[in-house]
Amino acid sequence: MYNAEVKGTGSFTPEAILTNQDLEKVVDTSDDWITRRTGIKERRIATNGLKTSEMGARAARQALEAAGVDPGDLDLVVVGTVTPDRQFPSCACALQEKIGAKRAASMDVSAGCSGFIYALSVANNAIRCGEAEHALVVGSEVLSSVTNWDDRGTCVLLGDGAGAVVLSRTDKDTGIRSIHLRSDGSFGNLLYSVDQSDVRSGLEILPGVSDLKPYYLVMDGQKLFKKAVECLEEITRWTLDKAGVEVSELALMVPHQANIRIINALAQRLGLAQDKVYTTIEKYGNTSSASIPMALAEAARQGCLAPCDKLLMVTFGAGLTWGASLVEWSCQL
Ligand code: ACO
Repeated sequence: MYNAEVKGTGSFTPEAILTNQDLEKVVDTSDDWITRRTGIKERRIATNGLKTSEMGARAARQALEAAGVDPGDLDLVVVGTVTPDRQFPSCACALQEKIGAKRAASMDVSAGCSGFIYALSVANNAIRCGEAEHALVVGSEVLSSVTNWDDRGTCVLLGDGAGAVVLSRTDKDTGIRSIHLRSDGSFGNLLYSVDQSDVRSGLEILPGVSDLKPYYLVMDGQKLFKKAVECLEEITRWTLDKAGVEVSELALMVPHQANIRIINALAQRLGLAQDKVYTTIEKYGNTSSASIPMALAEAARQGCLAPCDKLLMVTFGAGLTWGASLVEWSCQL
């Protein structure tokens, strides 16, 4: 059995910035409310038709360069997303074409905001069993395209972006040490999409929402908040336990960036110091599947990770889905 190690990371953020002050002109909200309740100050928005696959490709090129892996050597491309360019073919196939990963098998994974960790698990398994030597794992989202801009409870939270990781086979005792996924469909009503099939079947569409959108999301924020903190703590403890690692040994935690209060509550329950938690939520908001790989790439660029460091990534999202991975860091960038 081989191990899968992170060889390189990359990220892409669209240029256009939407600040809390900008949103004050769109819905009945305030910079003060958004900052206090979420920790978000601004988010990036994909403009001029920038698509999920293109943003993912830009993040992927950076990760491949950092890894020193040629796109033609990739065996697998897995993209976590809830906003693929189109229903089919997959976003991963479009991305594969853009980066020239000619011999890779490509697929999307849909697991809400947990898409990246789910995709990482697929790639990890392919490498561990010898099916793949090099795999590209991407989280990319254009959430602005499915945002209900009349709903102040959700539109202030979301942003666009992409992140990528190259995983490679190693026979050393390093890389992904533990990865665990969970889901519970009975909580699907806490966060879901209202799409064209709901409209056709007569479900009332919210006022002001264009029925040309593929879908838009609906959320019960308060219930999701409580459930998220429980799930994140449970899966973190399980994943650390399976890896035989104590919280005190962690060099860095990169959590899904949904709400700074959720992140702080998790750190507090774990007894993890604030300076060991990497956050980008202030700048980018919640970018769903993209949030962890974007934050990871930034943390790596800023030198927050050194070889042999123990890194925990943990997420939750629509489904409900949740998951975590403990990684022993082995790359320079
Ligand atoms: N600006 C001003 N007031 C607002 C806003 C806003 N943007 N949004 C809601 N409010 C109001 C509400 O109407 C309510 O007013 P009321 O008391 O008069 O009824 C009040 O603020 C409190 O609302 P709550 O929903 O109780 O606020 P809460 O503190 O729970 O914060 C939030 C809301 C930020 C959504 C929080 O519940 C949350 O972060 N939940 C988790 C969200 C999440 O993690 N989603 C993850 C997935 S997103 C995805 O998958 C793409």
